[in-house]
Amino acid sequence: MKHFTLGAIAALALTTASHAQQQIVVGHALSPASHYGVGADAFLNTLTELSGGTFTGSQAPAGQLGGERDMIEGLQIGSLDVVITSTGPLGNFVPQVYALDLPFLFRDYDHARTVLDGEIGQELLDKIGENNLVGLAWSENGFRHVTNARHPVRTPEDLKGLKLRTMENRVHMAAFEGMGAAPTPMAFPELFTALQQGVVDGQENPVTVITAAKFWEVQKYVSLTGHVYSPAVVLASPILLDSLTEEQKGWFMEAAKASAAATRAEVNRLEEAGVALLRENGMEVITDIDKAPFAALAEESSYAVYTDQYGSEMIERIKAVE
Ligand code: PAF
Repeated sequence: MKHFTLGAIAALALTTASHAQQQIVVGHALSPASHYGVGADAFLNTLTELSGGTFTGSQAPAGQLGGERDMIEGLQIGSLDVVITSTGPLGNFVPQVYALDLPFLFRDYDHARTVLDGEIGQELLDKIGENNLVGLAWSENGFRHVTNARHPVRTPEDLKGLKLRTMENRVHMAAFEGMGAAPTPMAFPELFTALQQGVVDGQENPVTVITAAKFWEVQKYVSLTGHVYSPAVVLASPILLDSLTEEQKGWFMEAAKASAAATRAEVNRLEEAGVALLRENGMEVITDIDKAPFAALAEESSYAVYTDQYGSEMIERIKAVE
C-alpha cells in the first residue's frame, strides 16, 4: 500500500478543492433584465470564463432571497455567495458608508464614479472588509427621484403629509423628515404591494428601478428631484472568499469589475431612454424643480447622522474630487 505524508494529502485535497466545480449564487433585488440583472450576468460570465468553468452559477433575482438587508446578513453567515445591493441598508453594518448616502452630495454621474473608482472608494471598500463582508467593487443604482400617487411634487411643501417609503437608511429617513414627508422605512420586496394598497403614498428610486419595477402601475407622478446618488456595491461572503486561492480571489475581483461596468452602461442607457418609457406608461414627469430648497432642508436634517460620528472631512474630500 502506498503511504502519503500529511503534507501530500493536504496538497491533494487543496488541488481537488480548487478544481471541483463550484456553483455561485448572485443575489439581488430586481428583475433579471434590470441593470442589476445585467451586472449579475456579467459577473457570472466573467467568472466562468476566467476560471475555465471551475466556477459557474446563477442569479437569485427579485428579492427571492429576501430584502437587501437580509441578503447582506446571508453573506455574513455564508448562506449566500455574492450580492449586488444598493448602499441603502449597508450603513447599518458599516456606518462609514453613510457618507455616500448624503443627499445632494454628488454633482453628477461622472463625479460619483470618479469618487468611487478612486482613493475614497477603495478606503470604503476596505472599511466594508473590516465588518465581516467583502467589498469587491462599486457598482451603481442611480440618482433617486420621488414618485407618488397623490399630486405633482415641485417644492418641499408638496411633500408635506406624504407617506413616503424610504430604504432602511438613517440618512435618507432624516433627509425626508427634514424635507417635510413622513418617511416609512421598508424592505423593497414589500414595496409594490404597499403602494398598491395605499399603505404608503410614494417612494423614491432611480429611473432604472422605477422602470424595472413598473411602478407606473401604482404611481402617477414622478418628480426628477435627483436628491441622492445611490451607489450599488458587489459584495461577497468572507466565508467563501477565505476558502479561495489568491488566483481565484483575483477572478472574483475581475468579475466584480466587469459586473460594475456592465451595470453602469445599462444605467447610462436607461437614463437616456427611461423617462420616455415612464411617460409612455402614463406617468406625469415633473422636471421644473428648483432643487435648492430641497437641498437646504435635507442637508440641515441629515448630514449630522454622519458628521456627529465622523466629522466633515470625508464630505469635503468628496466635494473636492473633480
Ligand atoms: O429602493 C431600494 O431598496 C433600492 O434602491 C433597490 C430597488 C432595492 C435597488 O438597490
